[in-house]
Amino acid sequence: MGFVIGYRRPDAPDTALVWQVAVDDAQRGRGLAGKLLDALFNRLVADGVRYLDTTITPDNEASIRLFGSFAKRWNAPLERSELFAASDFPDEHEPEDLFRIGPLVRAHDETGR
Ligand SMILES: CC(C)(COP(=O)(O)OP(=O)(O)OC[C@H]1O[C@@H](n2cnc3c(N)ncnc32)[C@H](O)[C@@H]1OP(=O)(O)O)[C@@H](O)C(=O)NCCC(=O)NCCS
Repeated sequence: MGFVIGYRRPDAPDTALVWQVAVDDAQRGRGLAGKLLDALFNRLVADGVRYLDTTITPDNEASIRLFGSFAKRWNAPLERSELFAASDFPDEHEPEDLFRIGPLVRAHDETGR
């Protein structure tokens, strides 16, 4: 129904980069992507990760909301900056903004309490 993939930066092990998160069309809007991110980062934060990095195209409202809500739930600051402009790509491509969330200091309680 959905997945999240990413990697821990070898040169900065306190940062995990979320490469892709996707949920099947029929299952969207039920909080599944948020639950996948919470479950993954509960494990990563317990193992020393403090920052989530991801890139998002500025027109991807669902994704922007998803990571905005994650930052709120984890009570962590979110910094947004331009990483790649459209002109940086050799073919037609939307710009990619970098979202950096952290420090993630407290494992999020999945019960919401
Ligand atoms: C982005 C994506 C993973 C979200 O999955 P999801 O399970 O529907 O997300 P959630 O239900 O956890 O919702 C997260 C937030 O996004 C909002 N949202 C979901 N779909 C939305 C849409 N189409 N437009 C605007 N907001 C949307 C939800 O209301 C929720 O906001 P809230 O926390 O403020 O209530 C899903 O839309 C998707 O697979 N998109 C295609 C792949 C993609 O673009 N991935 C991101 C690039 S890395």
